[in-house]
Amino acid sequence: MSSPTKPGIECKSALSLTGIKPSGTPHVGNYLAAIQPALALASQMPGFYFIADYHALTTIRDARLLHRMKMEVAATWLAFGLDPRRTTLFVQSDVPEVCELSWILGCVTGLGLLNRAHAYKDAISRGREVNAGTFFYPVLMAADILLYGATLVPVGRDQKQHVEMTRDMALAFNHHFGETLVVPEPLIRDDVATIPGTDGRKMSKSHGNVIPLFESSGKLRKRIMRIVTDSTPMEQPKDPHSCAVFNLYRNFTSEEQAGEMEARYKAGGFGYGHAKQELFRVMDMFLAGPRERYRELMATPQVLEDILAEGAMRARKVARETIFRVREVTGLKKDLTSC
Ligand code: TRP
Repeated sequence: MSSPTKPGIECKSALSLTGIKPSGTPHVGNYLAAIQPALALASQMPGFYFIADYHALTTIRDARLLHRMKMEVAATWLAFGLDPRRTTLFVQSDVPEVCELSWILGCVTGLGLLNRAHAYKDAISRGREVNAGTFFYPVLMAADILLYGATLVPVGRDQKQHVEMTRDMALAFNHHFGETLVVPEPLIRDDVATIPGTDGRKMSKSHGNVIPLFESSGKLRKRIMRIVTDSTPMEQPKDPHSCAVFNLYRNFTSEEQAGEMEARYKAGGFGYGHAKQELFRVMDMFLAGPRERYRELMATPQVLEDILAEGAMRARKVARETIFRVREVTGLKKDLTSC
């Protein structure tokens, strides 16, 4: 006799899901490394993209700051064209079922697995005081992914281990309680080149070398003019690939245009000042539309709130179905309407 397929498992249709941790003013590195590739995926399949505020609570202790950062993240993704009708955009904590699943998954997760998590090990090795939330972080992340039955999880390299741990947790749960949870695949952005900041090191808030996405044209120009270059004189040939200006430029132009600039670097007689002018021109052109939309959205928080509320409603519907099944197979009371 063939066993009946558990609901949810039989319809493993493609769904991409990713969490975005609110972390301050969004910058060009965030856009190129995370936002752009996730939006490309969102145009190919349904997606659940959420703002990971429960995760942010492992470090943030300021309610107003957290709220503002959430709004900034939502406005940023919408400004770059996320279509909220197609991609469900919501705030993680608007669907508290994720905490329940997180607890249940924690009960099938060995301590050994969590002890191996890079993020936690790094925090320990830097001598930081580590809270239990940081230790449990990978379980909450697994709950995020498994609650919605995501098949594809686009993340940066630093999150690959977390998605692998999610797979382990889903397999462990299914082993103990029967096929219930969809085992996801990570989609690692290995091909994304490191985006240089204004000092040539990787663009990162902690290095203080970022180019914010939504500053005025004037400020953008100033930042670009301050990008550190070497002292090769104007007449001499230059190496484009070791130059932050060129490495930023190539992300905002066609291959053909980048090829032209590459040739000019190599030919000599082309100064860094010229390259910076050109970088400013293409970046300003690219960012003008999103900058305008971002400002409009930040000025109308109610519009943002409505989009997020609508997203939470859709997400919660799926979450409840999963939690219902999970409660059923684990022996918890499944129908709470009488309580
Ligand atoms: N931990 C991720 C980060 O720091 C954010 C995140 C939370 C996430 N939950 C997720 C990413 C689920 C992918 C899937 O970037």
